[in-house]
Amino acid sequence: MNWLNDNVNLLTLIGAAAIVILTVVIVGKYIKQMKTDKSTGELSGNKWDGIEEYKNPLPMGWSLAFIGVIVWGLWYWLAGYPLGTFSQLGQYNEEVSNYTKRFESKWANPDKDTLMGMGEGVFLVKCAPCHGITGDGMNGKARDLTTWGTEDHIVDVVLKGSSGQGYPLGQMPAGMLDKASATAVAAYIVQDLAKTGKSKHPELVEQGKALYATCGACHGNDGKGNGGSAPALADYGKAQFIVDVLNHGKKGSIGNMLKFNDGRLTDIQKTAVGTYVNSLNKE
Ligand code: HEC
Ligand code: HEC
Repeated sequence: MNWLNDNVNLLTLIGAAAIVILTVVIVGKYIKQMKTDKSTGELSGNKWDGIEEYKNPLPMGWSLAFIGVIVWGLWYWLAGYPLGTFSQLGQYNEEVSNYTKRFESKWANPDKDTLMGMGEGVFLVKCAPCHGITGDGMNGKARDLTTWGTEDHIVDVVLKGSSGQGYPLGQMPAGMLDKASATAVAAYIVQDLAKTGKSKHPELVEQGKALYATCGACHGNDGKGNGGSAPALADYGKAQFIVDVLNHGKKGSIGNMLKFNDGRLTDIQKTAVGTYVNSLNKE
C-alpha cells in the first residue's frame, strides 16, 4: 500500500487510532463509574421532577471574577470608553481621512508624469480586474478603453446610443444621425468643442458644427451638459470626462461598473486614472 509509505499519512493514521482508543477507554471508565458511584454531600431539599440539588457554595474565585467583571463593565461603559467616544472603526476612518488629506495636499498640483504614474497604479488596481491590464476589456468583459475618447467612439455612441449612467435625461437613443453625419459631428466635438486635438476629418468640422444642434438639445449648445442633465461633451477626450463616468457608474449590457464617488478614489486619483485611460487610445 503506497500511502503507508508517506510519513504524514502514517502519523495521521496513528493519531486517529490513538483518539479512537482513548475515547473508548475513557468513556467506558466513566460509564462504569456512573453505575457504581454514589455521590455525597448536603442536599438543599429542593426537588424538581425527582432531581435534587446539592448545597454547594459558589467557589470563591468564581464569585470574585463575577463581581470583577461587573465592576469592570460599569467602568468601561461609564468612564473608560463611554459609548460614542471611541471605536477602532472610527479611529481607522479618522486615520484614513487624515492620510487622504495629506495625500491630496502633497499632490495638489501634480505634473503630467506624476498623473500618468499615479493613474497607471490606480488603473492596475481598480480598473484592470474588469477592463484588463491593457484596457482592452478582456474580450467584452467590460468596455474596451483603448478606443475611448476617440472620434470613432463618438460615432459608435451616436449609432448605438448610450445608457446606464443614470443621468437625469436618461437614455440617449440610438441612430439619431447616419454614419456620415455622426463622423462630422465627431470631428466638430474633438476639434472645436472639446479642443482636444486636430480632427482626422478637419474638412467636416463646419458641417459637424451645424449638425451639433441635434446634440445640443440635451448636451447643451456649449457642450457643458445642461447643468448635469447629460454628459459634458466639451470635456470629451479629457480626464474630466472619465471622472464623470466614474462618478456616475455604468449599468452596462454586460454587467455593472460601480460608482467611484464614495471616497474610494480621491479627486486627484480620478483625474490621474482619467489621464492614464486617455493615453491608452493610440489613435
Ligand atoms: C435626448 C437627449 C440626447 C441627445 C439628443 C444626445 N445625447 Fe448624447 N447622451 C445623452 C445622455 C442622457 C447620455 C448619457 C447616457 C448614459 O450613458 O447613461 C449621453 C451620452 C453621450 C456620450 C457619452 C457616451 C459614453 O459612452 O459615456 C456621447 C459621446 C454623446 N452622448 C454624444 C452625443 C452626440 C454626438 C449627440 C448628437 C448627435 C448626442 N449625444 C445627442 C443624451 C442625449
Ligand atoms: C466591476 C468591473 C469594473 C471595474 C472595476 C471598472 N469598470 Fe469600467 N466598466 C465596466 C463595465 C461592465 C462597463 C460597461 C460596459 C458596457 O456595457 O458598455 C464599464 C464602462 C466603463 C467606461 C465607459 C463608460 C461609458 O459611458 O460607456 C469607462 C470610461 C470605464 N468603464 C472606466 C473605468 C475606470 C477608469 C475604472 C477604474 C477606476 C473602471 N472602469 C473600473 C466594468 C468595470
